[in-house]
Amino acid sequence: MIIAVDGPAGAGKGTIASYLANYYELKHLDTGLLYRAVALKALRENIANDDPVSLVRIALNLDLDQLKDPDLRLESTASMASQIAVLPEVREILTRHMRFFCQHISKPFNGAVLDGRDIGTVVCPDAHLKFFVTARPEIRAQRRLKEMQEHQTQNQQESYLEKINERDQRDRIVAAEDAYTIDTSDMNIKDACEYAGKIVEEYMKNLAA
Ligand code: DC
Repeated sequence: MIIAVDGPAGAGKGTIASYLANYYELKHLDTGLLYRAVALKALRENIANDDPVSLVRIALNLDLDQLKDPDLRLESTASMASQIAVLPEVREILTRHMRFFCQHISKPFNGAVLDGRDIGTVVCPDAHLKFFVTARPEIRAQRRLKEMQEHQTQNQQESYLEKINERDQRDRIVAAEDAYTIDTSDMNIKDACEYAGKIVEEYMKNLAA
């Protein structure tokens, strides 16, 4: 079973994807980390966001260990990730990495759950289940700020709403036509996870019937 979870930053898609991965024994890939890993390496090597040749080289040489670097969580990395994500050459290579991940699922996993922006529309258009997780921008900005303070990765109090709006405009966030939309603005995240879980249950029940 392949599940796609898409949506904008701070809507809760990562939490929902992790919940489904644990509950249903699915391999999980946070695809934003791939974009962030390319961005972080580019920042460290002083590579500009409009240098596709160097960015493609980094993307081709990505390895899973690079996805564990704590600096991937920095806002500066997120911003660079969103800038390089507009380059089709980079998207194409990272999409290939994601598809490879989906094609290499073995026991004990029953499938995969990928969270990102274009999983249900581009990376896995044939996913068995698709979710589009969203929330109002001001709610997402508040959540991101709280998260950063908890992790103490950065303590700047700049306007996160502005950053969120900037990223929303740059990121390609389109819901797949056949996606279940979950608006988490007025929901606690536990309820949102359980709601997604119920949809998966329903899907499996129909398969068995
Ligand atoms: O989900 P995130 O904040 O970790 O993602 C970082 C950036 O990567 C995001 O601003 C846009 C890009 N991205 C993308 O374009 N497609 C994906 N499937 C995942 C992330």
